[in-house]
This record gives sequence, structure tokens and C-alpha cells, in this order.
Amino acid sequence: MKKLGLLLLAMMISLSSCGGDNAKKAKESADQAVEATKDAASEAGDAVKEAAEKTADVAEEAAEKTADAAKEVVDTAKEAVSGVDGKTVFMNNGCIACHQVDKKTVGPSLKTIAASYVDKKDDMVKFLKGEGKAIVDPAQFAVMQPNLNTTKNMNDADLSALVDYMLSVK
Ligand code: HEC
Repeated sequence: MKKLGLLLLAMMISLSSCGGDNAKKAKESADQAVEATKDAASEAGDAVKEAAEKTADVAEEAAEKTADAAKEVVDTAKEAVSGVDGKTVFMNNGCIACHQVDKKTVGPSLKTIAASYVDKKDDMVKFLKGEGKAIVDPAQFAVMQPNLNTTKNMNDADLSALVDYMLSVK
């Protein structure tokens, strides 16, 4: 707006002036007007650039926040699954492939295993940590053994929930 005022002023001066140097004054005014327009254009360009940079910053920040929030939701869900639901641990680690609830397949049924471990939760935890002996079907232990690599590496919460589930099957 200031630039526009200058421009008007310059035009008024050029219009109202009289005498021999009218042409020279008009040229000066015109030059000033061109300069003022150039300045205004460059200022506007800077403002647009600045606004675009700010928008990019805000967008980037928002994207980061969204990613963080999504990660948190996934972590919470994982925690809920591993900490609470032993059945999910059992299913997710492929145990169901050999252990059905009440019929023998490749491995003994969950009912058979639970019957052998009544009041022996600690013993089953030890077995799954690779620190105990097979008591259900020792002759077939070689088939079960590779799975101990999975259960050995579980955290205590997962392992405890898993054993609780296996013992809960009656
Ligand atoms: C490839 C088939 C197979 C898979 C998969 C499998 N098991 Fe077994 N499991 C067996 C067999 C066979 C036995 C019987 C041998 C034995 O008693 O150690 C057994 C026995 C067991 C026993 C009883 C151990 C004892 O004292 O005799 C437990 C507990 C057990 N499995 C837990 C699991 C868990 C937990 C998983 C999943 C991480 C799993 N199994 C996956 C085949 C399997």
C-alpha cells in the first residue's frame, strides 16, 4: 500500500508540474514508479516463499506426529496381546499346529499336557525355557525340542500368559 501511495504521488507530481523540465520530471516519476513496482513484486515473492516454507514445516511436523501416534497405538496393541492373552501367544507361535485342544495329533493334546502339569506351572515354565525334562511323552521330545528356541526367547510376561493358557484347558 505504501508503494501504491508513492506511485500515485509520483503520478500527481508529474501531472501537476509545469515548465520546460516537465518531460524530465515525468521520466523521473515513471522511473520511481517502476522501482516501486519492482520492490513490491519482490516483497510479494518473498512473502509467498516464506508462506510456502512455513506450510511445508507444519505439514512435516503433522506427519511426524501422526507416525508417532500410530506407532504408539501399535505398541499398546502388541502389549495388550502379549501381556494378557496366552491363547494369542499360543496361536501366533504355531503351537496349534501340533497341539489341538482335546485330541492328539503330532503332539499331545492340551488337555493331556494340562493334566500332567496340574499345580506345576513353574515346571512348565522351566521346560519351555529349556531347563526342564519332558514328562508328557519323553520319547517324542525330539519333535518338540525345536520349539523351545521360540519359547526360550519369549519375555516373562508372554511365557507366563502362554503357560496359564495351556494349563487352563480342562
Ligand atoms: C512340530 C510339532 C510341535 C509344535 C509346533 C509344538 N509342539 Fe509342543 N510338543 C510336541 C510333541 C511331539 C510333544 C511331546 C514330546 C514331549 O513331551 O516333549 C510336545 C510337548 C509339549 C509340552 C509338554 C512337555 C513335556 O513335559 O513333555 C509342552 C508344554 C509343549 N509341547 C508346548 C508347546 C508350545 C508352547 C508350543 C509353541 C511354541 C509347541 N509346543 C509347539 C510337538 C510340537
